[in-house]
Amino acid sequence: MSSNLNLDNELVVIKSEKNKYLAVIDYTKEFVTNEGKIFLKNINSIPSKILSSTGVEFKIYKPSYKEFVLLMKRGPQIIYPKDSAQILIEANIHSSSNVLEIGTGSGALTLLLYTLISKSGSLTTLDISKTNQRRAQKTIKRYFSKNEINDENILKFINVELENFNFKELNYKIDTIITDVPEPWIFFKNNKIENSITWVSYLPSISQIAKIKETLIENYFENIEIKEVIVRDWVVDNKIMRPSNRLVSHTGFIISANFIKY
Ligand SMILES: C[S@@+](CC[C@H](N)C(=O)[O-])C[C@H]1O[C@@H](n2cnc3c(N)ncnc32)[C@H](O)[C@@H]1O
Repeated sequence: MSSNLNLDNELVVIKSEKNKYLAVIDYTKEFVTNEGKIFLKNINSIPSKILSSTGVEFKIYKPSYKEFVLLMKRGPQIIYPKDSAQILIEANIHSSSNVLEIGTGSGALTLLLYTLISKSGSLTTLDISKTNQRRAQKTIKRYFSKNEINDENILKFINVELENFNFKELNYKIDTIITDVPEPWIFFKNNKIENSITWVSYLPSISQIAKIKETLIENYFENIEIKEVIVRDWVVDNKIMRPSNRLVSHTGFIISANFIKY
């Protein structure tokens, strides 16, 4: 439990029975909810409970990664946690992975990778859009309640169109490539893989999967697997024991493959 008087700038979840919000503590401000105002200066520990101006009880605690990405402001569509979890397995992510992420977008996957990769690895994330990369940087800083990301040795942002990118220009090792762009096959226009690489692409339509599969085969990748992750929540509440009425329908497909240098 953090308990001190300087919780300014801390990221928290503010949750009642009915509503859940993400907020950054600022002692000079009030947080307005549908169930009254919360005076942020009255939060003096995390986790804690607090009453709103209308007497509704709110719980205050640090968000998990999943809560954060589902509640955060976004630009481009994020990869949902159910899919990112599978991507981590397919990409064999560990603390020393050296990842090139193609398509920073809102930074949801970048943040997850960044929480897992340590100083013995690296994460390079590429996007054509400066605006999206700036938002992603803000998102990461916000998650860690930091003003700066100090770990530039671990996390690097590259602002370039994929078509103009040659990964040999990176003077460090890459062992994993993860893409979330509509045309990942563009990568191979300028790049020839020569060292062992694990490749994972996330794509919404099966025709895109067919095209990247063909490209991966042309580039001597093996162990190609294609999957879709379907997660079904259940309700277990006294006599009600059934699947939840809400099912997230199709999000995207995941294709994974290895280039192995024997
Ligand atoms: C759907 S978003 C990625 C979302 C991200 N995976 C997340 O979880 O937040 C796709 C991103 O790819 C970028 N992009 C699309 N085509 C690109 C290209 N050819 N070169 C570089 N970036 C590209 C877009 O600007 C966009 O930010």
